[in-house]
Amino acid sequence: MAFNTFQLQAPAKINLFLHITGKRDDGYHLLQSLMVFVDVGDTLEFAPHDSLFLDVDGPFAGDMPAPSENLIYKAAGLLAAEYKTTMRGRVRLTKNLPVASGIAGGSSDSAVAMRGFVKLWGLPEEHERMQRLAQRLGADVPACFIGKPVWAEGIGEKMTRLPEMPQMHFVLANPMVATPTPEVFRRFNSKYSPAIQFSGRRKSMHEWIADLKLYRNDLTDAASEVTPEIKQVLRALAETPNCHFARLSGSGATCFGVYDNADAAMAAVNKLKQLHPGWWISPANLLR
Ligand code: C5P
Repeated sequence: MAFNTFQLQAPAKINLFLHITGKRDDGYHLLQSLMVFVDVGDTLEFAPHDSLFLDVDGPFAGDMPAPSENLIYKAAGLLAAEYKTTMRGRVRLTKNLPVASGIAGGSSDSAVAMRGFVKLWGLPEEHERMQRLAQRLGADVPACFIGKPVWAEGIGEKMTRLPEMPQMHFVLANPMVATPTPEVFRRFNSKYSPAIQFSGRRKSMHEWIADLKLYRNDLTDAASEVTPEIKQVLRALAETPNCHFARLSGSGATCFGVYDNADAAMAAVNKLKQLHPGWWISPANLLR
């Protein structure tokens, strides 16, 4: 890496649960969700350059949308307009996360791109101004800008940081079928969940797991209509030894299983890889 080139990680997000509690007049859904981030993600490398140039590599580079649709460009455009500067820099995105998969890969890339451009362009670090811009990039982007466990409400923009969470061990599994978020929300026609009261109380891992089991992802039925393979993924995860529970993340199709420790998660990864060689499967640990 050349001098003044730097790298940032764009972690995957998991919705430990996701309740839909209503709908706004503009069509966006109101939700309550516990959003966490894990040690699996894309990588962005930044280097000085006169104009803006984006390179993409990595296992899922070929599935990326057209450059004009890329949220990294959109983040650059918004920031440049806000701070009346020119878009510049060479960005190399290593796309390790499957696209359109419910773990906020694109949102995390754009949130981290904002951080990168702030550093590269020498802009001030203004958290609230950045959060306002992040909202314009997508409902998940403000949480991705934080990158640590948050309790999210509204359409995802009202966030409370969780003071402390115990380590948690996950397996992520995706059947490799892109599942577009708008399509899943369009099909959602279940009853709204009653709003729950959030407690920021410190809890042990087993207390968290017991609480989380009471909740669900309200988008599961709608997402399974769009991508029927989700049902198979949930079943396969739940059947791995020592899996506490398996659930869909976001609008899918990535699902996750929760395990007591990294060894149990790794054993599940190995087993699932044997049974389903075409799926994307990864162990993941919480970023606290
Ligand atoms: O904000 P983002 O681009 O991630 O959302 C994609 C689509 O998902 C929106 O256009 C909307 O149709 C739907 N959505 C929703 N309610 C949310 C978040 C997303 O209806 N809270």
